[in-house]
Amino acid sequence: MWTPIDKRNDDVRAQSPPDLSAQTRSLIGDLLACYPTKRAALLPALHLAQEQIGWLPDKTLLQVAELLGLPPTEVLDAASFYDMFWREPKGRKLVQVCEGFACELCGQVNLLAALEKKLGVQAGETTADSQFTLVTVQCLAACDRGPVVHVNDRLFERVTPEKLDEVLAADTPSISHDTLVRAIDLAKRRRESTTDEHR
Ligand code: FES
Repeated sequence: MWTPIDKRNDDVRAQSPPDLSAQTRSLIGDLLACYPTKRAALLPALHLAQEQIGWLPDKTLLQVAELLGLPPTEVLDAASFYDMFWREPKGRKLVQVCEGFACELCGQVNLLAALEKKLGVQAGETTADSQFTLVTVQCLAACDRGPVVHVNDRLFERVTPEKLDEVLAADTPSISHDTLVRAIDLAKRRRESTTDEHR
């Protein structure tokens, strides 16, 4: 897993992570009804928690463990095992630059250097204002459109240093989070309509 270097200033670093919001708790509650056991709901619950907090500090893991009625060690094991979960603070936007061979041929090295200069961090670091974490990754499966940059869930193709301002400022909603929330909502509505039919 990537281990970002925390370059945040002391004020930002000293802030304690927030509690899980009522909305996240409610979504996790709805999620439980979609799975046969609470343990089966652990990974999507961690996704929801990470989406709100930005990463998974110990405090958040304890709150997830409490909501699911699971041992905290089990929740910690899952959060530590999978690459998609962040146990270190990461920026609001995760900027992933493909360093695969095809992208390298299309100018990835210059692009990464321009990004590092613009953000004031090296690959693997988080900006002082916690807005961006910059990492390099292997092939993002868009080799014919390189160099490519992935910001949160959005892919940008044929990126040049001149386009970086646009890419960094773009709206990059979390598609996977929205999909999960829609699936929970759909399951909830199905359950409600089944209950109505049996009345
Ligand atoms: S090498 Fe960059 S997308 Fe495949």
